[in-house]
Amino acid sequence: MRMNSFQKYESDVSSYWRHFPCTFTKAKMSKLYDTEGKEYIDFFCGAGAMNYGHNNEYIMSKIIEYMQGDNIIHALDMHTSAKEAFLDAFGEKILKPRGLDYKLMFCSPSGTNANEAALKMARKATGRQNVFSFMGAFHGMSTGSLALTSSEYDRNGAGQTLSNVTFMPYPFGFGEKFDTIAYMESILESDHSGIEKPAAIIVETVQAEGGIVVAPVEWLKRLRELCTKHGIYLICDDIQVGCGRTGNFFSFERAGIVPDMVTMSKSIGGCGMPMSVVLLKPELDVLLPGQHNGTFRGFQPAFIGATAALDIANDEFFANVRKKDELITKYYEENIKTIDERIGHRGIGLIHAIVTDQLDCFDNGALNDEIQNECFDRGLIIELAGQRSCALKILPALTITEDELIAGMDILRDSIKAVLAKK
Ligand SMILES: Cc1ncc(COP(=O)(O)O)c(C=O)c1O
Repeated sequence: MRMNSFQKYESDVSSYWRHFPCTFTKAKMSKLYDTEGKEYIDFFCGAGAMNYGHNNEYIMSKIIEYMQGDNIIHALDMHTSAKEAFLDAFGEKILKPRGLDYKLMFCSPSGTNANEAALKMARKATGRQNVFSFMGAFHGMSTGSLALTSSEYDRNGAGQTLSNVTFMPYPFGFGEKFDTIAYMESILESDHSGIEKPAAIIVETVQAEGGIVVAPVEWLKRLRELCTKHGIYLICDDIQVGCGRTGNFFSFERAGIVPDMVTMSKSIGGCGMPMSVVLLKPELDVLLPGQHNGTFRGFQPAFIGATAALDIANDEFFANVRKKDELITKYYEENIKTIDERIGHRGIGLIHAIVTDQLDCFDNGALNDEIQNECFDRGLIIELAGQRSCALKILPALTITEDELIAGMDILRDSIKAVLAKK
């Protein structure tokens, strides 16, 4: 009955329900519930928007208190107490201890809009139009960000030419076999490369939608050096892998580098509250007042959620993420690799993947579709990523308990076994 309403009225562009065909109604921390009362362990985490868990009690209490107090909800980019409290907390708890000198620019509340803003600033500051992005990258769905996104399927939705971006090999797949930084260097040094010098290079330190590919620390350091040497701005897209996901607040901390701009969204709002921000070096603050505006920038309850989240995101919290990282790796070694040596694993912090493309029965995503369906039937929500959907993506809330994590991994292991047994 309910599904009929969705089918009757909702556009065919909606996609996730196709993998998780039920009607969700409730959620608490790492569990989701459907209208039939069935419980699911959540390894999808709102695509990275729910790092602190669904309806996190502490964060929600602050939001509810704010919402019930006749406090301002909508304020465009005017000064408000909620925004001021967030700016102070972010400065004191995140920027200052890391010695970071960034200004904050709030955008229309989606990750893609933060990337659009970063592109504008890099282009305006340099007067150059080209931008380097990487093979396997995902940066969003609006035209500028889609031009940075490498997936053919996603790009085919644009209906227009996506321009001013040159894709460079990420240190993975083909790019693992040669020195991609030296390749970029040769392009930038040559006046016969045929490739315009970019205003910026945008990078995910861990490609998430690209299949959970972790860039090596040494590569990230050399990328930073390359940008500095050639006067190119380095943008780090931390929309999915920021906010503690990799075991530090920012994903680039492990490489000891400082990007010129950082884009954040998803979990920055604390509990699914829409929010989006660009952190920028002061020299990049080149847009004139109103040159990147938007009606819903600064949705005030999101500032409340974001400020409350910063009370949680401390060193102990990050250390706990790193501990659970080891737990997943150990689980893979002892329980999944033992099913078949060719089943691979990649990951860092609490973003991991079980990779099946080396199996003989791997067939353009259909195998993982089956495993995903089996997981769903058994009560686990898990998404696929990477080329030909080769990666089963483990993206739980950072607050997930060890017992819940193991229970989810058990479902994943049993589902892989059950599907492979039929092959
Ligand atoms: C790395 C990265 N950048 C940008 C985006 C786009 O964010 P949004 O869907 O909020 O526009 C995403 C979304 O998954 C992402 O993972």
